[in-house]
Amino acid sequence: MLTVLCQRCLEIIHRTDATQAPLRLNRFILACACMINKVATGKLVIITGASRGLGRAMALEFARLGHVVAGCARTEKAAASAQSVLGAPHQVSAVDVANDAQVSAWAAAVIAKHGAPDLLLNNAAIINPNAPLWKVSRSDFDAVVDINIKGVANVIRHFLPAMVHRRSGVIVNFSSGWGRSASPEVAPYCASKWAVEGLTQALALELPAGMAAVPLNPGIINTDMLRSCFGGSAADFPDATQWAKKAVPFLLSLDSRQNGQPISVP
Ligand SMILES: NC(=O)c1ccc[n+]([C@@H]2O[C@H](COP(=O)([O-])OP(=O)(O)OC[C@H]3O[C@@H](n4cnc5c(N)ncnc54)[C@H](OP(=O)(O)O)[C@@H]3O)[C@@H](O)[C@H]2O)c1
Repeated sequence: MLTVLCQRCLEIIHRTDATQAPLRLNRFILACACMINKVATGKLVIITGASRGLGRAMALEFARLGHVVAGCARTEKAAASAQSVLGAPHQVSAVDVANDAQVSAWAAAVIAKHGAPDLLLNNAAIINPNAPLWKVSRSDFDAVVDINIKGVANVIRHFLPAMVHRRSGVIVNFSSGWGRSASPEVAPYCASKWAVEGLTQALALELPAGMAAVPLNPGIINTDMLRSCFGGSAADFPDATQWAKKAVPFLLSLDSRQNGQPISVP
């Protein structure tokens, strides 16, 4: 008999009575409700920063293609706005990725409901207001590091154990062209994205066979972030909805063959 159980139900079975968690689909397959839900609806995709820009556009496109999205944004208002557009079974929660305790509670709730993610997209990030490095305030620099680097590590810390336990899934850490090159006035952002590249390549060496972690350069897209650093010329670039139409199929195509490779949305 093929057994398809999420980590939570596996643990329940080990602790208690095997008849409590699983549902028998037919005489060949034993599956828990979490996994049946996923089989019926596609992949479980975690997206940090799902309220605006690339995160919101990806959430809508994954949902349109039949996948289940669990996303986050910093405020209740931003999360509620994204939730109202996405609807059930998708869920956008108010979580600051820089807050380890909030990420821990969010990951536990998502994994309890849906099981381990199939695709973990560390998209949330900020950019410093344009300024030469010596004019960047300590608080602006700290915020970039706290969200863009430590936030990625927080999300990995709390979502990855369930994925490693299941020995499957892909982690995509959003980098940038400025994770592989540099420009003036965005030094904190460049430093954070170069860090994402290194962190991800080290993580790739730690994963079990069958999984992947990749740093992704999404391209140049007209979002709030781009308007912050490019000003009016951001309008010369594609919008996030157009971008998501090609980015989402590309993200769905990733597998262990790309593990550790710095990739870009074609
Ligand atoms: N746009 C581009 O051309 C471009 C180019 C290269 C790389 N990227 C990368 O692509 C990703 C998305 O960029 P974007 O252009 O879509 O940015 P954006 O328009 O500024 O959107 C950023 C998103 O991240 C969320 N966020 C920020 N801080 C957060 C935190 N502490 N906790 C949870 N969510 C948080 C925001 O949510 P709130 O509503 O809560 O603020 C928002 O949903 C980033 O990693 C960026 O570095 C973008």
